Amino acid sequence: MNTPSLLIAPSMLASDFANGAREVASIKENGADWVHLDVMDGAFVPNISFGPPIIKSLRKHSDLIFDTHLMIERPERYVVDFINAGSDYVTVHYEGNIHLDRTLNLIKEHGAKAGVTIVPSTPVSLLSEILHLADLVLVMSVNPGFGGQAMIPSTLKKITQLKELRGEHNYSYLISVDGGVNLETAEAVRNAGADVAVTGSAFFGASDRARFVQEMKGRA
Ligand code: DX5
Ligand code: ZN
Repeated sequence: MNTPSLLIAPSMLASDFANGAREVASIKENGADWVHLDVMDGAFVPNISFGPPIIKSLRKHSDLIFDTHLMIERPERYVVDFINAGSDYVTVHYEGNIHLDRTLNLIKEHGAKAGVTIVPSTPVSLLSEILHLADLVLVMSVNPGFGGQAMIPSTLKKITQLKELRGEHNYSYLISVDGGVNLETAEAVRNAGADVAVTGSAFFGASDRARFVQEMKGRA
């Protein structure tokens, strides 16, 4: 009871890039909620994906929330470009971002929502000094860099920890989870109390995307 609906955020990383307009439109058409955009620089993670120009083109084909996840070194150099490209949320990693307070404020000053994320080996406790600034906290449930990996189940306890901290301190962030989220792991994700579930390969690989979304939300 009283479980609010889980927001589903398909990751464009798993889409057919040659049909980007159609793929991004299919997110709303099939009842999902946000568009997740995985930006990789080949340095912070061992993979390269896309940058602001692609996000700007996709923006014309969807009116959903654009949830941009920057897996890049020194993201403060680019957050404004990603906001200007149409990102509603810009999420940066705790790891390797020394002036996180400054980066989150920079995102907010430019009118976007500020997210922070941690890799599986980083504990929630290291976020204690910036949680009050976060509009979103993204729990990575795989080591970032690639879609299609198996979830590391022990990471889900961080969702519960973040929920408790939010209640205790009256913080306002949403809690999102990213990596290996599919129909097999959906129940654990819902039970842990996530607000948003990123799902790349499972959404774009589903034979019936609309049904997949309803099943993820626990409605089918
Ligand atoms: C991993 C990315 C994820 C990933 C999710 O580095 O941040 O968003 O694309 O893909 P799946 O759902 O396939 O694990
Ligand atoms: Zn992501």
